[in-house]
Amino acid sequence: MTVLVTGGAGYIGSHTVRSLGESGREVVVLDSLETGHSEALLGADLVVGEIADFDLVTKLCRERNVRSIVHFAAYKSVGESMSHPLRYFSNNVGGSTALIDAAVAAGVEQFVFSSSAAVYGSPARVPVTEDLLPRPESVYAETKWMVERVLSWIGETRGLRSVCLRYFNAAGASFDSAIGEDWSVTTNLVPIVMKATLGKRPPLEVFGSDYPTRDGTGERDYIHVVDLAEGHVKALDYLDVGKPSLTCNLGTGKGSTVLEVLSATERISGCGVPHVFSARRAGDPAVVFADPSLAERELGWRARYGIEEILQTAWTWHSTHVDGY
Ligand code: UD1
Repeated sequence: MTVLVTGGAGYIGSHTVRSLGESGREVVVLDSLETGHSEALLGADLVVGEIADFDLVTKLCRERNVRSIVHFAAYKSVGESMSHPLRYFSNNVGGSTALIDAAVAAGVEQFVFSSSAAVYGSPARVPVTEDLLPRPESVYAETKWMVERVLSWIGETRGLRSVCLRYFNAAGASFDSAIGEDWSVTTNLVPIVMKATLGKRPPLEVFGSDYPTRDGTGERDYIHVVDLAEGHVKALDYLDVGKPSLTCNLGTGKGSTVLEVLSATERISGCGVPHVFSARRAGDPAVVFADPSLAERELGWRARYGIEEILQTAWTWHSTHVDGY
């Protein structure tokens, strides 16, 4: 039995491919390499192609005896999703429905979906529990919520069991620095902090210093990418024993503010982080962190690492890979 990982050459995908291999599973990756890197696969089996290619996916699933799919392949920039909404609906929703269609046709039984805490929008309360009604505030978040809904209906009508994992703020790199994030394709805080510290971009803009938080800056639940990867292995273990579809958060349950990220980075790197304060970014909530107890209860998963390991591994990775892979 093989696990098909779409988008396995991307950031979270490549860490998951590695964890799946370490768990003893046979893996094949389907990636267009539009933003992914074949080097990130560390030798795992790669098919270059599109998730929307029905014939390719059905053939691959049948030939390789694929029982489970872990689906990462998607566009992920919130800002770009607002300027190019149809590109996001087409790729993230259209691509996913084509993939699910092919999966069902080829007899795939289990599906793990890379969703996002972005589906909650500005949460009405923290910690965020899964029973909060999603209220997406971007096209990107809407596409994640739409695919969750598609999976729920396909579960009901076709019996495809799924786990939707709503990630909080993924960050960090592998502990041996073999793989990490490509900072040319991200707008997230941690890689931007590293880039500014290494003098590879202008100073970081701290968006807002008047939030109702302990130091006035935004607070988020940063989760180590290796922990996230292990969450996918646990989700497959859960489905493998026949359990029903599930949607759950993957977060640590603890928040860090932007200024806490900066001061820890300064300590770890021994360098100052060039930064300036600017206005709040539109749509940014003050505080978001997860209640991760459902994942612990149902999947037997909990985050092992915190902000120190995240920033330490991110620093080691970026400072040794300033030109990426
Ligand atoms: C991110 C993702 C979202 C994802 C969610 C998971 C983006 C734009 N958003 O949102 O897709 O689903 O996490 O919960 O990719 N900040 C600065 N300066 C910067 C960049 C960020 O001060 O240059 C601050 C933000 O205001 C925020 C924090 O850093 O307080 C984290 O920002 P970011 O990494 O963009 O993540 P989120 O906005 O939480």
